[in-house]
Amino acid sequence: MKALITGISGQDGYFLSQLLLSKGYEVHGVLRRNSSMTHGTMELLPPDVRSQIIIHHGDITDENFLSNLLQSEKPEELYHLAAQSFVGYSFENSQSTYDVNIGGTLNVCNAIRSSSTDTRMYFAGTSELFGKPLETPQNENTPFFPRSPYAISKLAGLWTVRTYRDAYKLFMSNGILFNHESEVRGPEFVTRKISTGVARVHQGSQQPIILGNLSAVKDWGYAKDYVEGMWKMLQYDISDDFVMGTGESHTVKEFVEEAFGVIGIRLTWKGQGVNEVGLSEGGRVLVKVNRDLYRPLEADNFTADYSKAREKLGWEPKVKFKELVRIMVENDIKLIQRK
Ligand code: GDD
Repeated sequence: MKALITGISGQDGYFLSQLLLSKGYEVHGVLRRNSSMTHGTMELLPPDVRSQIIIHHGDITDENFLSNLLQSEKPEELYHLAAQSFVGYSFENSQSTYDVNIGGTLNVCNAIRSSSTDTRMYFAGTSELFGKPLETPQNENTPFFPRSPYAISKLAGLWTVRTYRDAYKLFMSNGILFNHESEVRGPEFVTRKISTGVARVHQGSQQPIILGNLSAVKDWGYAKDYVEGMWKMLQYDISDDFVMGTGESHTVKEFVEEAFGVIGIRLTWKGQGVNEVGLSEGGRVLVKVNRDLYRPLEADNFTADYSKAREKLGWEPKVKFKELVRIMVENDIKLIQRK
């Protein structure tokens, strides 16, 4: 079996490429050339794993590149993970977010349609589509209410996939995945920012962690579980849409508390809103809030109802909140100690 992954240098590409290789797949990845020739999370893969991945340099905004690639490789499976995935950034750069997330997805769909109609495609949808959820928990029938340029672009991507699936009878599935994190999460995302900040405090740093909205409620799971779900979607009899999450929701503040708990610090909170601070038992300021890190609109109150994925795909998240936080903090402590 041959699989192609766009966005292979991201967190999910890291776990998915390993999963597919362990199942005996020939794994191909699309990698955008950048001036420093960095390979993102691929650089964290063990060399023997990395050397097995066949890289194609190109950009998903280039339709010719994609159709030529699909024409020559004809992969059985295509995991379309490449995206501008940072919600906060999408408010400042909506144009490039639309170009990559909508244009890129359209190009992938067109390339499959024109050059490789037997390819099964996975599209990385998101809980951000629910934005301001109209019901709790959220499942495949919950109305969408996007609240950022990122979410709007993903909504267009999801509907492009649905339309191509129905119009041209292609096997294209949407994953509506809730937040999924890990030890290779990018440093701009809140969970990794917290886990590295806590690890630094453990190693003697005096710097407080500076965050935005502490009250946002998210459903956080472990990325490794979610790539298993992506793969299961493409093994299913028919293409469809599936919600995947843990069913457990927590605030950013609870993530911070749990993370400090891993290093034996019990936080207390003082103040309100942007004046709120997190203190150690000795009264040291360990967490501060900065208004500039708030988003113009927040998307939260997320809790996944993943019963469809459980019933139809036999998918279940193995790692829950507490274990996820422990994995991330302990890994960041190890990374600092190794330096
Ligand atoms: N990034 C960041 N930095 N977020 C902060 C901060 C901060 O300093 N302080 C508070 N937050 C809050 C954000 O306002 C948001 O509510 C929450 O923390 C999580 O933010 P992110 O970690 O940036 O992730 P996200 O939820 O916006 O989006 C991630 O998950 C989606 C759902 O799976 C991304 O991976 C998206 O690409 C993905 O679709």
